[in-house]
This record gives sequence, structure tokens and C-alpha cells, in this order.
Amino acid sequence: MPVDLSINYPAATDLLSRRQIIRQTAALLEKCQVAGHTVSLRLVSDQEIRSLNKQYRQKDSATNVLSFPFADGADENLAGLPVKELGDIVISLDTARREAREFGQTLQHRLGWLIIHGLLHLLGYDHERSNKDEKKMQAMEHELLAYLQTYRRIPMPHLAINVDHIATIRQARGTIEPDPVTAAALCELAGASGIVVHLREDRRHIQDRDVLLLRQTVKTKLNLEMGANREIIQFALDLKPDMITLVPEKREELTTEGGLDVVSQKKKLAQTVKKMNAAGIPVSIFIDPDLAQIKAASAIGATFVEIHTGKYCDAASENTREHEFQLITAAAEEASQMGLRVNAGHGLNYQNTAPIAALPTIDELSIGHAIISRAVFTGLDQAVREMLDIIRAAQF
Ligand code: PXP
Repeated sequence: MPVDLSINYPAATDLLSRRQIIRQTAALLEKCQVAGHTVSLRLVSDQEIRSLNKQYRQKDSATNVLSFPFADGADENLAGLPVKELGDIVISLDTARREAREFGQTLQHRLGWLIIHGLLHLLGYDHERSNKDEKKMQAMEHELLAYLQTYRRIPMPHLAINVDHIATIRQARGTIEPDPVTAAALCELAGASGIVVHLREDRRHIQDRDVLLLRQTVKTKLNLEMGANREIIQFALDLKPDMITLVPEKREELTTEGGLDVVSQKKKLAQTVKKMNAAGIPVSIFIDPDLAQIKAASAIGATFVEIHTGKYCDAASENTREHEFQLITAAAEEASQMGLRVNAGHGLNYQNTAPIAALPTIDELSIGHAIISRAVFTGLDQAVREMLDIIRAAQF
């Protein structure tokens, strides 16, 4: 194993994927032409890095990264060095998290940069030696960071946009504008990979006419969100959208409030999934990040689950948010391991989407309210592109 990773940090498994860190560090070794060498990577707290900084550098403060080259004083060309061990890179996750927040980056992105920085020190680069050396190291950092962006388990998640809110504005006046069909076309032109509409029983926003037109005009993928009621099921079977997402539906709710309880309605939902599958319509089920619900969705033949991100998005404290994020991460991993494809959505916005988009198990993000709200001020094209930029940047 070229990378010996040790983590001494509380709740690190909630924050990071060991597998991703090892894979990316190994890729960096290869890119730096030291694939036959090994490196030891330690992720620690501020307290631990501070004590190392004091002991070895006589600096009594925490720092982001420390490198301890096995062959101290080596130059940048280590390929021919007889030793196979490059040395230790120690990174403080406390500082990395702070810096990620400060620079508006995901933790994975920040960590990638710190690993690169530490590795270049092990390879003999030193930005403190001279201006020329600083420039040389920075250029190498940029090159390696760009290289890292190509390393991911699956491609970046697709962005599917829910245009219900455009219809809500139209319905407020009972007129013909703004038209969700036009909005869908603009979203696609700006780079969205799918359009989502929820045809509710009470037709409070999206109308049958919208869905019928969208079926003819959407060029990417039309995802019909719906409750499992007889009339809408027949509508979907006649329409043949590219996929459906089953959601719970209550007339009195403002928006979909919780995930569908698949466990308690297994028999009824199984029949709906069976009908859709027979008609060649893949089914996604909107569920809370809960293992029992995932198992039930898998057992009744769903192709996708959409993990409800609402509690993560609405969390009132950083601790609750981290807890909810951990539940989503674990649920997405479990669903993916069961062979389900994994979407996520509800409440995602320009501040909270990056960590979810960085999860390697997520196929598609379904976002509506935040994008349409921003579009009121910036225009739909820009609002979509800004969200796509966030999703892209989250890939490292
Ligand atoms: N996914 C599902 C299943 C939903 O019901 C909704 C809301 O209609 C969304 C995603 C999008 O949520 P938001 O509008 O908060 O982005």
C-alpha cells in the first residue's frame, strides 16, 4: 500500500472518505513519478499538530500541514533515491475545516491542496527558500490540483431542476405567465441535465398541460414527481416520463414534508413500482436517510432512491448539520452498495449544496426553490450556471 493513512480525529469518518483520500494520494505519487515510494499521511487535531510544531519546529502554535521527509535535504528528483519511504505528512483537520470555510471550499478540496503541499515538501520543494522556489512550488501545486480533479469514483452529479415554483407564480394570477415550459428550456440551455415537476392531486402549481408539453419539449430527462394515487399513476403510465419519483403528498402541506414511509406501505408501493417497471418507467422513491427505508425501497424494485436532505439543510446548529450529513452519507453509501442509484434533494441551496455534491455516491441533485429564487434577481440562466459551478467545484 503506497499510502499509510492514519486518522486521529473525532468523527472523521463522517467528514471524509478514507478510500478517496488514499486513492487520490496514490494518484499524486504516480503523477510525481514516485509511484514506487510510500508516504505516511496522518490526519490529526489542532492540539496534536501544535505539539508536533513545538517539538520539531519550536513554534508553539497549530498549523495546517507539516512534512517530515525521510531523506531530509533531498532535492526534487527523488525517483532515483534508494529509500522507498518518502516521509510523513501531518495535517490538522481542525485547521483544514476552518480554512475550507474561510475559502468557500469543500473539506475534500482543501485537504487535497494540503496533501499536495505536504507531498511537494517531502519531494524537496520549498517555498521558503527563495522567490523562485516559491513560484516553482506554486506552479506545481496548481498542476497537481488540476490533476486531482480528474480523480473521482463517478462523474459529477447531474443537476435536475424543479420548475414548480414558476407555475406557482403563474397560478397566483391565474394567467399564462410565467410558463414552466419556457423555464425548463432555459434551464436546459444553461446546462441542467433534467427537469422535475410535481403534479399534485390538487393541481396547485403544475397543470396537466405543463406536463404534456414538457414531455414533448424536454430534451434531457423529465422526472415526474407524484403521490401514489390512482389517477396520477394512470396519468404517468399514459405520459411515460423518463422516470417518476414517488413522494408522500398531503393537501395541507406547503411542500413535500418528509420522506415516503416505504416500510409501512410496502405492498401498495410495490404494485405501483411493478406497473411502472412493466411500462419501462424507472422509479425513484423519496425517503429519509434511513436504512430500513432503503432496504424496503430496494425490496420493492425501485431503481433509485432520492435521499431527503431537508433536515440537513434546515439544521439549526453546526452539530445537528454534521449529524444529518453523516446520516445522508451513510444512507447514500448503503443504497449504492445495494445497487440502487442515489439522488438527493430538498432544501439544497447555494450555501449547503457543495458537501452533498462531493459525495461520490450521488447520481443527481434535485433542486428547485433556491435556483428559482435566485433567478428572480439574476435571471434563470445565471442562477443555473452558478449552481453548476458549485457542483463542479465540489468534485475537487
Ligand atoms: N425533491 C423532492 C422529492 C421534492 O419534493 C422537492 C420539492 O418539490 C425537491 C426535491 C426540491 O426541493 P427544493 O425546492 O427545496 O429545492
